[in-house]
Amino acid sequence: MTLERRKFDTLVIGAGGGGLRASLQLSSADANVAVVSKVFPTRSHTVAAQGGINAALANVLPDNWHWHMYDTIKGSDYLGDQDAIEYMCRSASHLVYELEHAGVPFSRLDNGKIYQRPFGGQSQNFGGDQAARTCAAADRTGHAILHSLYQQNIRAKTHFFDEYFAIDLIKDQEGFILGALVLNIETGEPLLLEAKTTLLATGGAGQLFRTNTNAHINTGDGLGMALRAGIPLQDMEFFQFHPTGIAGKGMLITEGARGEGGYLVNKDGERFMERYAPHAKDLASRDVVSRAIATEVREGRGCGENGDYVLLKLDHLGQEVLKKRLPGISDTIKTFLHIDPAMEPVPVFPTAHYTMGGIPTNRHGQVVVPVETGEEEIPGLYAAGECACVSVHGANRLGGNSLLDIVVFGRAAGNDIIKFLKENRYHRPLDQDSVDKAMARLHRWDAKGEGETVAGLRAEMQATMEKYCGVFRTEEVLAEGVEKIIKLEQRMKDVRLQDHGRIFNTARIEALELENLMDLALATVVSAQARKESRGAHSRMDYPKRDDVQWLKHSLFFKEDRRLDYKPVTLKPISVDSFPPKERVY
Ligand code: FUM
Repeated sequence: MTLERRKFDTLVIGAGGGGLRASLQLSSADANVAVVSKVFPTRSHTVAAQGGINAALANVLPDNWHWHMYDTIKGSDYLGDQDAIEYMCRSASHLVYELEHAGVPFSRLDNGKIYQRPFGGQSQNFGGDQAARTCAAADRTGHAILHSLYQQNIRAKTHFFDEYFAIDLIKDQEGFILGALVLNIETGEPLLLEAKTTLLATGGAGQLFRTNTNAHINTGDGLGMALRAGIPLQDMEFFQFHPTGIAGKGMLITEGARGEGGYLVNKDGERFMERYAPHAKDLASRDVVSRAIATEVREGRGCGENGDYVLLKLDHLGQEVLKKRLPGISDTIKTFLHIDPAMEPVPVFPTAHYTMGGIPTNRHGQVVVPVETGEEEIPGLYAAGECACVSVHGANRLGGNSLLDIVVFGRAAGNDIIKFLKENRYHRPLDQDSVDKAMARLHRWDAKGEGETVAGLRAEMQATMEKYCGVFRTEEVLAEGVEKIIKLEQRMKDVRLQDHGRIFNTARIEALELENLMDLALATVVSAQARKESRGAHSRMDYPKRDDVQWLKHSLFFKEDRRLDYKPVTLKPISVDSFPPKERVY
């Protein structure tokens, strides 16, 4: 049977905000763009982003992009690259107004301006009073942005391949990326999408952990593809735990709940954040609040029969605020906990939320790899959004900066691709070896198999990551985690596809996703074991201090030999003075 082939100027893999902002830029410039998505585009995980998008509009309190830049660098525990952070914070206001004009129904202040709420780690005047920088559409901001971007793409005539799963990148001997092999999930037929440029925008890998805020689809497929193409992953040890997931279940309760005046208490009714962050309290950065909650529970001040959660108080906010500003989480709390947040406090505990590491890129979205003389771009390959590590979040992302990241760097990648296409007008010849290799990966899952189930192995991997690579880490625990994940990965070869009397394509997809997750689990634990300091979300009890002398550097994990390399952090911004590392207090 011949393999069906289609050709495009650009292939975008992933239809969340990063992918759709890039495709919109490209389609609007008359490029011929294909977007491949394993779910219907408006089901991409951007839809689940709640609290908002950061931009220093100063609609509620005084603000400017330079303060935003400072907060982001401090939030990153100084691991963020300051050139990329300046670029992001300077672009923010323009891009939020652009979204407004594209139809995003932002909530409004009485004067008609976009509503902004306070979020964690935000300050006025470089560490002063709390700022209010997060532009919100109630607590459904991602939903509003994703739908508007999708509609704009339809208008701009972007070509969508809905419910196609990306198997692997196609690459020639000279290292050019030529597109990807994808699978039509409905028919089970492979399709070769040749493209002059390819953008990975596949989102994060929250499914590495048992309790998480992420959609079932967040299996880090683009990161897995990058690793198999020989590209290292950057800073994988930094995984964000959101402080307020529904205890034991993981669903997100937006930081906006604390932004609107909600606060955390322990079993004694104490507002414990006053002890950990006397100035910012409940709106300290996420790593600080998550550690504080985990510490309260470890030290016996947790609530409930097992003392394994704390309480988020919202009842004092009143029905009107909950209905107007937090309708989505009010529904979630009623659905999953059967309680009314207007009447009772909500049990919460930190939950895996965001992949701060990812595919290394520069601020133009180009994927870059280390070479003897520094680093160089992979020709024709771009990445944007949560799958990329540009790095604007460093060791700890600030809430509200992820929606900003996807629109800023989706657009930047789109602009750079337009330039690339002008200079590279023709498709390069196909590399058959690379196609054959991708086909072999797919055919590996043609047969049912005999051993344990994919679902069983995946659940064991998630439980292992939660236990051995959670909020607090030590050498001993991480070493055991590495060993366990290596063993779990070896068991992949014996797994059996889910069988309902016949094998559905979705069962093959689950196996392909688990292959990706296994690689990422290993990248995460190996990188975490190697970093012998505490920085941002990477909290080593045996190395409790940040160590800028040894560790102010980005890690790079290579699949081959599980090798680690390091590269310097960019401390020099584009046009302003650097913010040198200093002690981080909230
Ligand atoms: O808490 C939240 O609404 C999440 C926002 C974010 O991760 O940026």
